[in-house]
Parts: sequence; C-alpha cells; structure tokens
Amino acid sequence: MSKAKSTSPLWHPYTQHAIAPDSIHIDRAAGAYLFARNEVNGVPKGERRIIDAISSWWVITHGHCHPDIIHAVQQQAGALDQVIFAGFTHEPAERLAENLIAVTGDRLEHVFLSDSGSTAVEVALKMAIGYWEHSGHPRRKIIALEGGYHGDTFGTMSVGGRSVYHKLYEPYMFEVEHIPFPATGCEAETFAALEKVLDDHKDDVAAFVFEPLLQAAGGMRVYSPDVLKTMADMCRAHGVLLIADEVMTGFGRTGTMFACQQADFVPDLMCMSKGLTGGFLPLGATLCTKDIYNAFYHKDKAKMFFHSSSFMGNPLSCAAANASLRIWEDDEAVQDKIDNIAKAHAEAAVCFARRGDLTNIRQKGTMLAMDLAVEDGGYLSDIQPKLYESFLSQGVLLRPLGNTVYILPPYCVSADNLDMVYNAVNVALDDVL
Ligand SMILES: Cc1ncc(COP(=O)(O)O)c(C=O)c1O
Repeated sequence: MSKAKSTSPLWHPYTQHAIAPDSIHIDRAAGAYLFARNEVNGVPKGERRIIDAISSWWVITHGHCHPDIIHAVQQQAGALDQVIFAGFTHEPAERLAENLIAVTGDRLEHVFLSDSGSTAVEVALKMAIGYWEHSGHPRRKIIALEGGYHGDTFGTMSVGGRSVYHKLYEPYMFEVEHIPFPATGCEAETFAALEKVLDDHKDDVAAFVFEPLLQAAGGMRVYSPDVLKTMADMCRAHGVLLIADEVMTGFGRTGTMFACQQADFVPDLMCMSKGLTGGFLPLGATLCTKDIYNAFYHKDKAKMFFHSSSFMGNPLSCAAANASLRIWEDDEAVQDKIDNIAKAHAEAAVCFARRGDLTNIRQKGTMLAMDLAVEDGGYLSDIQPKLYESFLSQGVLLRPLGNTVYILPPYCVSADNLDMVYNAVNVALDDVL
C-alpha cells in the first residue's frame, strides 16, 4: 500500500489526483518485474511483484536494472559526472555518436544530444526550419499525421494531433498541416491529402514529421511499411525533409532496430530517446545528415544552432546508452527475444479475436493492442480505471489508453510472464465488460 494521496506533495503526470488511487510505491525493480512496497496498517509486509508489461512507459528494453548497464554507469560515475557540453566533450559521448551513426546506417552523420523524447523532436524541428532558412530558401510549413504524439512541449504539441491531451493549449500552438492517419483501407485519402498539401504549398514545406509504422500515445495505431515508404517518396520528390520520430519505435519495439528500416529508407532527421539508454537514464538524440549540419556551419556566428539543454550529453546517460548498445551487439540474443515476443503476441492475438468483445486487434513487433467495444471510447473512457485496477490486482502493469489495451513488455520477459499478462487481460475483460 502507498501513502495517502493527501500527504504527498508530488504532482504526477497524466494523473487526475482528485479521483486517482494512491500512487504505488516502488522500491526496486529487476528484469521484467517491479517490486511494490506492501504495508498493512503502516507496517511493512514484504513486497508485491508486478510484471512491467508496458516497459515503464516504453523505455525499458533489456529489462530493469540490467547488470551491464549498472556496471557501466557505476564506472562512469567515478570518473566524470557532468560537464558543460559547449566547448567540451568526453569519451562516452564521442563513442555514443559513432555508435548511433553506425547503427542507423551511416547516412546520418551528425548527432545532437538532449535529454528527452520531446527535446529530440524539438531539436529536429528547429534544425529543419534552420536548414531552409540558412540555405537561402526559407520554407515554413510542417506536415504531420493526425493523431500523432511527439511530446508535451509547445513545438511538439503543435506537430502532435489535436487531441484531449493538448486541447487547452491549442490557441498557443503554431499552425501545422495535419493529414489523415493512413488507416487500413483509407490510405488513398492520406496520399491525396499529402499530395494536395505538397502542391498547394510548393517549395514552402520544410519537413514531414511522423511516428514510423506505429502511432503510440495516439492509440497504438499501426500502418504498413509500404504506406510509410510511399509517403516518404512523395515528400522526397518535393525536397521535403523527413523527420522520423523513433522515440518510441526505436531500439526494437516494432521488430527491427528502427521502424524506418522496414520501409527501407533512412530519414533526414531521426529522433531517439526512451530505449536509447535501455531505459536506464534520460537521454535524447537527434541525428541529421551532413547537408543539414552544413547549413549551420558558417563563419557567421548568428548561424550557429541555438539550442541547448543543461544536461545534454550527460556522461552517465551516454555510458548507459553505450552499454545498452553493447548488449545489442554481443552479449545477448536480443533479436531472438524480440522475435519470440512477436510470435507469442501473434498467437495471443488469435485467441483474443475469438472473444468477440474486442475490435481492431493489431500487432507490430513487440506491441499487441486491442480496442474494447464500449460506448464512451477514447482516452477518457470510464472503462480505463477499472481495467487498470483489475490488471494491478493480478500483478500486472498495463495502462490502457482509454479503451485501448496494449502490451509492450521489456525483451527479457519470459514466456510464462507473457502468459500471465494475456491471462490478466482475459480476466479483466471478463470482470469489467
Ligand atoms: C513517439 C514519441 N515521441 C516523443 C515522445 C516524448 O518523449 P518524452 O516523454 O521523453 O519527452 C513520446 C513519449 O511518449 C513518444 O511516444
């Protein structure tokens, strides 16, 4: 049991404190498990295991407290904690930049570090706009997909979908050309809308920003690599820069290291965070082409890239990211684990489909999602807290997006764990529906 909500001054994200249950107090984590503090009448009574079936908001890749990452961070902590990143550099950041360039296929030659997914996308947008401005052909329009989510800062809210998340702030956002999400069967509508924006604003579209293959916070909506490739080709034909927001999809979530690989192209700007450090420490990265870097490369100081974060390139975060990438390279069969999760999800999807009370069951790599047929669909659906509580009472952390239940486990999850998660979904649905 956690402390009474009235005694904590903490303000939690995406939480309506007036009606939310008390926050669950976590003391430690290991692998796929969170360990919750258990108290009865204020007296400690052991701990409660919870399977982290959403990878703690999609950040944990190899598992909580991976020993290799712990070791790397410990080593780094004894050498260099933090240093200003303007005019100074260090080995973990230099190595990370090389690693990221190599892992994305060498087209992206420069790496700008920041501290979150939102900042990684903000940086990409600012780079895209600056690129056109400094090249002497200013372009001002940004295209994005309806229903996208790119973060909660004003720039990222602007390119995100106009949803309940950001409604209050809409009057303060900048204008963006949103095109319909390419839902299965409706792709032609998306292509037509994209073509129209590209034609209507010829030579004025700076960039197209998108979550490749999988819109996450927008409801775990998936679309195919072919559709992504077509949209990318259409933009390229108009010289529009491609900004891939791989903050959530990156590092294996959709089955490959990066989702864009499945569509067989490398974007002009790629945003990373979440799984970059294996989920161990905060870090953002924006990778860009040499052309974009060169647009800012000038004897004129006013053309430098004006963006910084105090903790950008933090040595501990970089050390964690390098250790995580090393796990991908040699220590463990990460890809096998991802493939096994995808296979288990595919089998579970067939079983879920037999229930009859679920719609739109979809999978992309390690992500399996389904919608509950309820009258009040959407993020604020009343069914969400009931499901959430039921999952937790069964020792499983699943946090539905309204009436959308999704599973996105860390790669160390066992087959037994996955069966428990699928079973928890069935039990919760039986209870709640
Ligand atoms: C696709 C995508 N982009 C950006 C972000 C923002 O990342 P952060 O919460 O680290 O700022 C998120 C967060 O969920 C995301 O899913």
